[in-house]
Amino acid sequence: MQDARYVKEAFAGIARRYVLTNHVLSLGTDVLWRRKTARLVESFAPGHVLDLATGSGDLALAIQGACPSARVLGADFSVPMMRQAQRQGFQNVVAADAMALPLADASFDVVTVAFGLRNMASWPGALKEMLRVLRPGGRLVVLDFSLPSWLLLRGPYVFYLKHIMPRVAGVLTGKREAYEYLCGSIERFPSGARMEALMRDCGFAEPVSRPLSFGIATLYTAGKP
Ligand SMILES: C[S@@+](CC[C@H](N)C(=O)[O-])C[C@H]1O[C@@H](n2cnc3c(N)ncnc32)[C@H](O)[C@@H]1O
Repeated sequence: MQDARYVKEAFAGIARRYVLTNHVLSLGTDVLWRRKTARLVESFAPGHVLDLATGSGDLALAIQGACPSARVLGADFSVPMMRQAQRQGFQNVVAADAMALPLADASFDVVTVAFGLRNMASWPGALKEMLRVLRPGGRLVVLDFSLPSWLLLRGPYVFYLKHIMPRVAGVLTGKREAYEYLCGSIERFPSGARMEALMRDCGFAEPVSRPLSFGIATLYTAGKP
């Protein structure tokens, strides 16, 4: 869980270079993760999709491409990040805090959140808001970073997160400090079975987690009973 004011300021500072920095730091893998997420959303044949913490709109655009007849709404509390979404061609955005969404109960078939839940002030609070705006039978899809379970990979990956990634990101964005918190935030964020348990505690049914790229990211789905 994170301090909302710090998170807002951090994303305002990196908004212009956010997309490029993602692609460089992940060697383009982030694009594949979002494509996979969009294909999963497509399999639910949704009419209305909410992409929370939409930021630069990369996932919203991938979902709109995979589900051309769906109405996709992006919500974020960072106006500079949403301007990036609009520059990238995703216009249907609303300024909103995920902790108190200005959206009606049961109004979406699918709620997605990519690399956003980890940054929110309360994970249970945010998940309960997502549950509220989902219709019964609707699906939650969460994509976020995690640590590889394979210990031989975990050590070098944590070293990369702590020592290499902030330097590279600092050169690209001029805001090294915004990336220095990333490793700790990933270490603190519940993943795998712990995230499934949290989703169940918040009222979701049948949570499932799928590790991606050796567990560097994880894709979660759960349903609203
Ligand atoms: C790492 S970016 C992810 C952007 C995009 N989903 C992606 O896949 O690249 C995280 C986003 O979460 C947003 N965010 C964090 N906490 C939020 C909250 N409480 N309400 C709305 N947006 C939030 C930030 O403003 C930022 O744009």
